[in-house]
Amino acid sequence: MKENTQKLEMIAIETLIKDPNHPRQKSGNLDSLIKSLRHDGLMTPISVAKVGDDKYHVVDGWRRIEALKEMGMKKVSCLIYEDLKEADSAHKSFILNIERNQLNEIEIALHIKKMRDDVGYTYQELDILGYGSSAKVSKQISLLDLPAKIQNQIASGILTKAHGYELNKLKDEKQILKTGKFAVANDWSAKKTKVAVECIKRKARNAGKDSAPKSIPDDEVPGVYFKDAKDMSELDDGSVGLIFTSPPYHVGMKYEAGYTYAEHLENIEGVLEKSAKALVPGGIFAINVANITNFKGKNGTDKTTRIQPMLHFYNTVLQKHGFHLQDELIWVKDFSSFTQDDSVNYTDKTAHAEYRIVNRHEPIYIFKKKGERPVPEDGNIVLQSRLTRTEWEALAPSVWKINPAGRNQGHPNVFPEELARRIIKMYSYIGETVLDPFLGSGTTIKVARELGREGVGYERDLNYKATIMEKLGVVEEVKPESVKEYADKQLAELEANQPAKPEAEAAEDEKDYSVPVFGYESAEKELEPA
Ligand SMILES: C[S@@+](CC[C@H](N)C(=O)[O-])C[C@H]1O[C@@H](n2cnc3c(N)ncnc32)[C@H](O)[C@@H]1O
Repeated sequence: MKENTQKLEMIAIETLIKDPNHPRQKSGNLDSLIKSLRHDGLMTPISVAKVGDDKYHVVDGWRRIEALKEMGMKKVSCLIYEDLKEADSAHKSFILNIERNQLNEIEIALHIKKMRDDVGYTYQELDILGYGSSAKVSKQISLLDLPAKIQNQIASGILTKAHGYELNKLKDEKQILKTGKFAVANDWSAKKTKVAVECIKRKARNAGKDSAPKSIPDDEVPGVYFKDAKDMSELDDGSVGLIFTSPPYHVGMKYEAGYTYAEHLENIEGVLEKSAKALVPGGIFAINVANITNFKGKNGTDKTTRIQPMLHFYNTVLQKHGFHLQDELIWVKDFSSFTQDDSVNYTDKTAHAEYRIVNRHEPIYIFKKKGERPVPEDGNIVLQSRLTRTEWEALAPSVWKINPAGRNQGHPNVFPEELARRIIKMYSYIGETVLDPFLGSGTTIKVARELGREGVGYERDLNYKATIMEKLGVVEEVKPESVKEYADKQLAELEANQPAKPEAEAAEDEKDYSVPVFGYESAEKELEPA
């Protein structure tokens, strides 16, 4: 921070105002401070910034001002910063308070958030100013996502910020509060809290409830919404790490039957808009979409066909939502020149200089959203997600030769898993949510899960539900009752109608002799997901 002009002066207390960016939230009890001021006087001047004629913001020392007011003082010795900007004043105030160890972890988080969101500092600038790396800063700010009660407990020192980080791994507010309550009641260390949190998450996973982000549905097919993607109210803004998709191309597929060109564009535009909101700042929206090669005009009635280029449309729509085209890849599906299309093929009738090109590629557009991409807090995740130089060298050239997906996949336009694999590895971190708003057969979700990401997608055509379920390994729940099930039911009914056992015998039957796997059995029972 640059040096500012300073001078020392006695200033009337009534002209001093608390800096709205002052990181300290509460002044607390002033009794002992008043005693010390009475005994020793004001040892160091109050730091203030001049903000108008006879108007000063207190950069540091607001608590002392409150104490002096209570003591009936009218003037106080101040160190005046003449031309301190708002951001510099907030930062100076923070540093002075930090130096005296006077801020709690929530006040620190609030201050850093303010510097990022209101003042507009980037993560890099915050790092230079001494707030720490982007991972550290994001982690500190994440404390503000905790329920208010837990934040208060951290602010007052009942729980530490390390407890807060562990509790934050639970997605459900009730579970966070319950676990926090146990941590306080049993004086759990952050490490013990971590074990408890892991246990709860494991149990939720085993119960098939998925510990995925709260936006992931745990309906029939976890992660898949069978609805129009123009409504993505299930996904929080900025909750998706990467979008990879292949929209309808408007080439007469079954799932686009009856759509005019204008309706096609309207559909795509609506979905792009919602997807754009769901993506993290700085995130990648990768789109595999070809030009319309046999375009017969907007009404589909022209006699001759031509190519309708589509990049301009996607670029225009996404630019409106703060994206720019960062890169373009060419996916080569096959190198053969054989084609069954006679208008393109080489035949005896093909005239010289009238040759046509055999289409063997599709583009993949890599759009980038504006903003700074958040980096996972866990350094191991960052390391594990990163491509090695050799991997990068294999993927960096803009032409990718990948064989198309085989036929009979239960959907007419399945893209190859390898395509999804490359995009997901390049542009998402392990554990992040990968979204496909035009899911089709579910390829993106399948590959995302294989790569340790959360997969989520939208498909409005229920004809593909069975294909998606099969691809994602979801077994249909409702099955006709088998003979064995029928017999089991009969036996259970017979047992239920037996005369009651004496209480002691029944209690012995109920006893659990299995070996406990976790040290806080009673707490664990309480903490079980509802
Ligand atoms: C080209 S296919 C995607 C194929 C997919 N990449 C795969 O590997 O199986 C496009 C899909 O988007 C679906 N779709 C089109 N408009 C949609 C919308 N508004 N909301 C949800 N799905 C939509 C279509 O039904 C179709 O299944």
